[in-house]
Amino acid sequence: MSLNKIPLSLYVHLPWCEIQCPYCDFSITTDPVNGNDAKLAEAIIKDISQSKDLIAGRKFKTVYFGGGTPSLASTESIKHILDSIKNRFLSKETEITLEMNPSNVSEGRIDELLIAGINRISLGIQSYNNQELQALGRNHDKESAIQATQALQGINSTIDLIYGIEKQTPKSFTANLDRVIQSNINHLSLYQLTIEPNTIYYKKELELPNEEEIEKIELIAEDLLEKNGYKQYEVSSWSKPGYESQHNMNYWQFGDFLGVGPGSHSKISNEEEIIRFRKIKPLEGYIQNQRSTDLKKISDNDLDMDLAMNLLRIKNGLQPQDITIKLPASFLKKYQKGIDEGLLLEDRIGTTQKGYRFLNETIQLFF
Ligand SMILES: C[S@@+](CC[C@H](N)C(=O)[O-])C[C@H]1O[C@@H](n2cnc3c(N)ncnc32)[C@H](O)[C@@H]1O
Ligand code: SF4
Repeated sequence: MSLNKIPLSLYVHLPWCEIQCPYCDFSITTDPVNGNDAKLAEAIIKDISQSKDLIAGRKFKTVYFGGGTPSLASTESIKHILDSIKNRFLSKETEITLEMNPSNVSEGRIDELLIAGINRISLGIQSYNNQELQALGRNHDKESAIQATQALQGINSTIDLIYGIEKQTPKSFTANLDRVIQSNINHLSLYQLTIEPNTIYYKKELELPNEEEIEKIELIAEDLLEKNGYKQYEVSSWSKPGYESQHNMNYWQFGDFLGVGPGSHSKISNEEEIIRFRKIKPLEGYIQNQRSTDLKKISDNDLDMDLAMNLLRIKNGLQPQDITIKLPASFLKKYQKGIDEGLLLEDRIGTTQKGYRFLNETIQLFF
């Protein structure tokens, strides 16, 4: 087996959720955990050990437990997975993140997780406003959101907020952002609410903020976050210097990732080809058999678009050595057209201010 030098991340999907949020289209189950987390951990460990050829001698640059609600799984099952890869696949520098929901957070639980090997927490707050939380159908309130945020003091962590929620105003959004800033969190993901097909929200009449209000909210975010030492480094990501998400950066720099757990996606490269595949979604089926499905080689034509959709999300561009593959001639030809139109940068791979403002149009150059 040859040693593959492309950076590799591990994504572990833990699908447990207490409720189905009406806007969410992630692969989840609301079946009670009831000890099934131990069975799922065994299946995940088996899946990783069956993926030796795909890992090809690499250590994981990052590990990310996402969901679902990974904090509903027991600390033992998370520790079991980490212990099984510790010696062979992890190093002291590996960023190891776990997503938590406010209703499962306490200082005691965080301590347990840190001892188990987690070194970064991602907390799904979404909003600190009771009206907005109700509009989102969340099962936590303002009080538990504040308490969970306080429990993160001094911990390497990130918070998720959603904007563009029903009943949200620029004023209520500003209050949400102020809470994050006051809590001194070093990273924030700020997502505009998207209405996904196959969700309850898709079938419902919603009174969402209009375009003008959304623009106001985005300007407030830029202004307040920049004034308080956060830098936007990607479309939805803001951080204090040095706290950028290594896991997400690996996706955007076109690194490899191995996804384990039901419904998880992978992208693996070798000298000849780049392949994408996924694991089956039903939990029981995955516990029985961790086989891959929908295996697809990325064609030369799709590769340009795939590269653009990832690389151009990074706000200040990338040096060629930060990109994990040699950029194809067809990509560079389309890139030149973007330079000529004032949308793309000449001295590195990235967008101009105009190109970033109209990112969807810029990416279309690579179709
Ligand atoms: C897969 S969710 C898991 C996080 C965690 N279970 C929670 O609910 O807080 C990851 C993040 O995606 C974002 N998200 C999910 N659905 C979204 C949507 N329809 N529009 C915008 N953001 C969304 C939320 O901010 C959420 O924290
Ligand atoms: S938003 Fe989070 S808690 Fe809600 S259904 Fe999706 S993954 Fe589960």
